[in-house]
Amino acid sequence: MCGIVAAVAQRDVAPILVAGLRALEYRGYDSAGIAVLTPSGLRRVRAKGKVRELEARCDADPLRGHTGIAHTRWATHGAPSEENAHPHQAGRAVVVHNGIIENHAHLRAELQSLGRVFASETDTEVIAHLVDLELGKGLDVREATLRAIARLEGAYAIAVLDTQDAEHIVGARLGSPLVLGIGIGEHFLASDIQALVQVTRRVIYLEEGDVAEIGRERYAVFDRHGKSVDRVVHESELSSDAIDKGEFRHFMLKEIHEQPRAVADTLEGRLGANGPLPNIFGPGGDTLLSRAAGLHIVACGTSYHAGLVAKIWIEALARIPVSVEVASEYRYRDVVVPPNTLFIAISQSGETADTLAALRESRARGYLGTLAICNVPESSLVREAQLKLMTRAGPEIGVASTKAFTTQLAALALLSQELARTHGLPLSRLQALAAELAHLPRMLELALTIEPAIEALAARIVDRQHALFLGRGTQQAVAMEGALKLKEISYIHAEAYPAGELKHGPLALVDSTMPVIAVAPNNALLDKLKSNLQEVRARGGELYVIADHVSALEGEDPTRVLRLEVGGEMIAPAVLTVPLQLLAYHVAVLRGTDVDQPRNLAKSVTVE
Ligand code: M6R
Repeated sequence: MCGIVAAVAQRDVAPILVAGLRALEYRGYDSAGIAVLTPSGLRRVRAKGKVRELEARCDADPLRGHTGIAHTRWATHGAPSEENAHPHQAGRAVVVHNGIIENHAHLRAELQSLGRVFASETDTEVIAHLVDLELGKGLDVREATLRAIARLEGAYAIAVLDTQDAEHIVGARLGSPLVLGIGIGEHFLASDIQALVQVTRRVIYLEEGDVAEIGRERYAVFDRHGKSVDRVVHESELSSDAIDKGEFRHFMLKEIHEQPRAVADTLEGRLGANGPLPNIFGPGGDTLLSRAAGLHIVACGTSYHAGLVAKIWIEALARIPVSVEVASEYRYRDVVVPPNTLFIAISQSGETADTLAALRESRARGYLGTLAICNVPESSLVREAQLKLMTRAGPEIGVASTKAFTTQLAALALLSQELARTHGLPLSRLQALAAELAHLPRMLELALTIEPAIEALAARIVDRQHALFLGRGTQQAVAMEGALKLKEISYIHAEAYPAGELKHGPLALVDSTMPVIAVAPNNALLDKLKSNLQEVRARGGELYVIADHVSALEGEDPTRVLRLEVGGEMIAPAVLTVPLQLLAYHVAVLRGTDVDQPRNLAKSVTVE
């Protein structure tokens, strides 16, 4: 989604801003722009497409100046184009913005009635005009920004520059993240700390409603009432190495291969021989979990799929009801919350607008408490939830979520086991489950070794237009995750079904041109799944089976069965996801798509 970088420094800021935009590319965008105050006035360069197009223009005619703002835009209001790219300028005011201004049409009409002429179709441009109006009344850039944002409804993170003030940039946030970076003789603003690790690790995570003013030597933060406040300065542990592809061709492949380590990190210091260690969800967590009579899990995309797996585990092991819902539906529904229900939000980024809104909405709905399962410690979700369990996957750059999913499964397995413990599962079962979970990193390592076979399978389905994924039990969610991966990076239309549903409709689609990929662990549902596979074969469907090495699949064409060691039932979903991630990756590479930044998608969906 959109990205912001801003700097006031003693050196030229354009290289810092462009490097910051590059670090934000993974979020997804379709145009980019930069504005720098040069000795001869403001220079603004914008380009549709990639940051490299913008960089080429800047290289051709370098921007020299110590104060500037930059942006990557993911189109919401108005098509991707140079005119709609940020920064937007109105008179003296120059603005970059993430989020959506919901009352922009009303403000635009009002500003037009005052004679203001708009140069873009964006909602952002109204902010520039509002700030410029206030600057015209003699206010400084901070006062003018405060007045302007008082008129805005919706969500925003902004950085504002006054062409007549090279000393300051003002930032403000409400509903979209913004961090302030502290350097020596220079200060920065960015929508994501990854844009700043090149220049500083000392950051302040601005809070909802905060307004910040940065200069070379000083910065100041004001709360939503305009009162000066001290915010905690954090030392980020993020290193620029963490956002390097290393030996891998794509971030996605690197992240797939990082899964054994990421899952081991997620379990480290949290899992003992008898199950989860005390209070790994935060102080008082175990007591709260012991009181939970039910759970509502809310998430989007891949994180939602992780929630679907957890539902099956928790209902089986802790015997409490669990509902799982996509956040965009949950937030607008009049949900029934039975007594002692715990609210759980799952998110890689912790900034997904719908998931965050659902968490906020949940506060008024009478839950026992809230728990965030998240990968970004400084995210809004983590800061706002009562209990938290971090997934420790490390930065995930590829738009397609991979290690975030398997680490979420590891975290949710811990949650399931803790709930099982507090809801009476015998110690012997807990010990067996803990031993199985501890084995997951090793099983993931083994799963990665089937990559050559997956590459061969990818070559067989690369030219197809459609694919079906089948699974039963927890593997149903794995099948959904496999279909999501394939569609988002290879643009092949893919659907997932619980295998038993096939004959209720989707079987009509099956013919010799339809690859059907089934996930077959060696569990109680294997025989049922085999009957479903017969249904596919009888219609001439091109069937591929990803199976446990011990699954009895007599009668299947051995050239179409990919076997791997899966381990026990609890770790099977994570292990069986790996071949599906690799399949999507290799199909996408063969099709020549932009694997890490697929079209139309953003990494962190910070707008509704
Ligand atoms: O950061 P989140 O986990 O909240 O993101 C949720 C979805 O946007 C995300 O999982 C999305 O579906 C991925 N692109 C899937 O690969």
